Amino acid sequence: VNVKGKVILSKLVVSTVIIVFWEYINRNPEVDDSSAQKSWWFPSWFNNGKRRDRRKEDDTTELRLWDWFNPKKRPEVVRVTRWKAPVVWKGTYNKAILGNYYAKQKITVGLTAFAIGRYIEHYLEEFITPADRYFMVGHKVIFYIMVDDVSKVLFLELGPLHSLKVFEVKPENRWQHISMMLVKIIGEHILAHIQHEVDFLFCMDVDQVFQDNFGVKTLGQSVAQLQPWWYKERQKESAAYIPFGQGDFYYHTAIFGGTPIQVLNITQECFKGILLEKKNDIEAEWHDESHLNKYFLLDKPSKILSLEYCWDYHISLPSDIKTVKRSWQTKEYNLVRNII
Ligand SMILES: *[C@@H]1O[C@H](CO)[C@@H](O)[C@H](O)[C@H]1NC(C)=O
Repeated sequence: VNVKGKVILSKLVVSTVIIVFWEYINRNPEVDDSSAQKSWWFPSWFNNGKRRDRRKEDDTTELRLWDWFNPKKRPEVVRVTRWKAPVVWKGTYNKAILGNYYAKQKITVGLTAFAIGRYIEHYLEEFITPADRYFMVGHKVIFYIMVDDVSKVLFLELGPLHSLKVFEVKPENRWQHISMMLVKIIGEHILAHIQHEVDFLFCMDVDQVFQDNFGVKTLGQSVAQLQPWWYKERQKESAAYIPFGQGDFYYHTAIFGGTPIQVLNITQECFKGILLEKKNDIEAEWHDESHLNKYFLLDKPSKILSLEYCWDYHISLPSDIKTVKRSWQTKEYNLVRNII
């Protein structure tokens, strides 16, 4: 190798070093300092790959609260809880953003309801027909109807995205026991099949009627409903006893929901509470409602439905309520309860 060759070789080495150094200082300007320091000796495709992954995650993240929720529109009502969960009132949500988001996710929503004894002929049809019209319009829905006599269920025609599954359950002698068994039966069905069939599940009373759109703005990890009648648990010995002033809100069992796994946990915890009470020979005054409230006190709901979602026309309508999505039917206790 002559002198000329040595010079060319050393120029080559120097320029290679310069190129590598240039590549190094210009690599991944967006990567934060800590990760750059830790991985400076890795080739640049390593960091690029990491960044691409991060971007992929961003695309599929949950819809953020402030993307669709605008509490400023309703300053006169409670719209956000202490733990930053939204309370859904008319005017606080962006319907188009929510609709698009859930349409892309191709969700299926389940709805359970029980019709035992005369509840079948008195309430079931008036529950299903409006539910078909107003519940999760434009999305797949499965109604899970639990009855004690399948032969009494009439054939009901439903919209193309809706389907109905009817299950026979064994009734209990006392009304209170039926009410308590609901949580057990819902839990069993979630485990057996519902968890594989739906993305979100609601459990509702059959003696309430849908009157207006009940859409995707109600969906969440765990969803609780405000109770139109304020009620204070009185039996201190009860497992569901919540000390006065410590409850966040008073929630109503007429509607609760969430992801199937969350609903399963709610029903299991409520059932545990009921069993404990039975052992101690106490019954919480409002049965499963006390247990549901105890659950949501410890495990805060991620979304709360305002009184618009469950109104009782026996109370005169306050001006805060701009629309009623569901309302109580007249309860015919003498008729329906004494029979079973
Ligand atoms: C189920 O509920 C219990 C009691 O509230 C809670 O401690 C637990 O974290 C919950 N589990 C899940 C998976 O949410």
